[in-house]
Amino acid sequence: MDIFINNVHIIDPDNNVDEIGDIFIKNGIFADPGTAEGNVHIINGEGLTAVPGLVDLHVHLRDPGQTQKEDIISGCKAAAAGGVTSLLAMPNTEPTVDSPETVKYILEKAENADAHVYVVGSVTKGLGGHEPTDIDALYEAGIAALSDDGRPVEDTSIMAAAMKRAAELDIPVTAHCEDPYLAGGKINEGEISEKLGIKGMPRAAEDAGTAREIALAAAYDLPIHICHVSTYTSAAMIRDAKKRGVKVTAETAPHYLMLTEQELLQKDADYRMNPPLRTERDRLAMIDALKDGTIDAIATDHAPHTPEEKADFVAAPNGAIGMETSFAAAYTVLVKGGILTESELVQKMSCNPASILGIPAGTMYIGAPADLMLYKEEEWTVDPDKLHGKSKNTPFKGLTLAAKVKLTICGGKIVYNEL
Ligand code: DOR
Repeated sequence: MDIFINNVHIIDPDNNVDEIGDIFIKNGIFADPGTAEGNVHIINGEGLTAVPGLVDLHVHLRDPGQTQKEDIISGCKAAAAGGVTSLLAMPNTEPTVDSPETVKYILEKAENADAHVYVVGSVTKGLGGHEPTDIDALYEAGIAALSDDGRPVEDTSIMAAAMKRAAELDIPVTAHCEDPYLAGGKINEGEISEKLGIKGMPRAAEDAGTAREIALAAAYDLPIHICHVSTYTSAAMIRDAKKRGVKVTAETAPHYLMLTEQELLQKDADYRMNPPLRTERDRLAMIDALKDGTIDAIATDHAPHTPEEKADFVAAPNGAIGMETSFAAAYTVLVKGGILTESELVQKMSCNPASILGIPAGTMYIGAPADLMLYKEEEWTVDPDKLHGKSKNTPFKGLTLAAKVKLTICGGKIVYNEL
């Protein structure tokens, strides 16, 4: 049924809109509210803000192969509850997304999901780092980006070749920056790792990866997107590269904006991810880098793991879920903290990621696909048991956040509603 939302605060940065108005959705696309007639579903938008659906550039859906953690349908339910209407699904599944068959499996299953799923093909077979995939075959099957996320592309010459072919095909390469020979610890290397007697991951492991990808992008004048930036040193390198005209874009995640390595003193594996939570200096640098445009986007690195897997603090796999809390957490730190306006936050979570991925999202112009999210400034406390995905490993548990997603529309269909 067509949908009419009245008296709502509309923030649509792409069209320079920040005003109270009405929204009309007809046959799955945004239409002129003046043309609404007949049998429409009316939503009272008073006290709510409408923004284009969020675009999350970094999601692990775990399907195929690890559906005890998450699957395409459950992951997209989590997306809908967080206002995310488009997401980029990473290839570290079982099997890896290194064949056209696996790409097709994901795209077919995603047809019935509550979000638009864009698939990342891997750069190397099995994420092994040494044997390139057939990028053209993956592209024909429908991939929207390339990455070995979860791991770096170990062979630099394969990374350079992938960046070149991706640029010709006009799809992004998103880089998990890590020197595998330096990495391997469990938490940030420093004060807390020493205190706990746990092997640390040095910031140099991430920074060496960031430096390598920037060097490739600069040398060959090719685009690169840097995933989950967590160090002030990587942010400085990206800032410098942008000033020099290197085609680099970057994302960070809400946990790096709100939390630090101090959380690890709780010895709870829900606070362990890769890259790890770092220091207060790093946290503040992520905020500065968002403010000055060094970091273009906020993505979640939604990485579900079961409670059983997360039970042992040291042995547990890295990763934290994030899609249901990303907007609320970012709003709390950045908008309530006086760093970004609401419109600037929407650019970081919807418009910019849509443009990096080159997809028809991040806008509410008349004629665009009707993907939107309604939220309210309202305090709520994160209860893992009330989240909608299969796994509960959130580092935001127990925190009070300052905004709540109230309704999500994807392709003209209401996919989440708590009004
Ligand atoms: O913490 C992480 N979890 N970092 C990664 O790079 C991979 C991810 C996962 O797949 O669990």
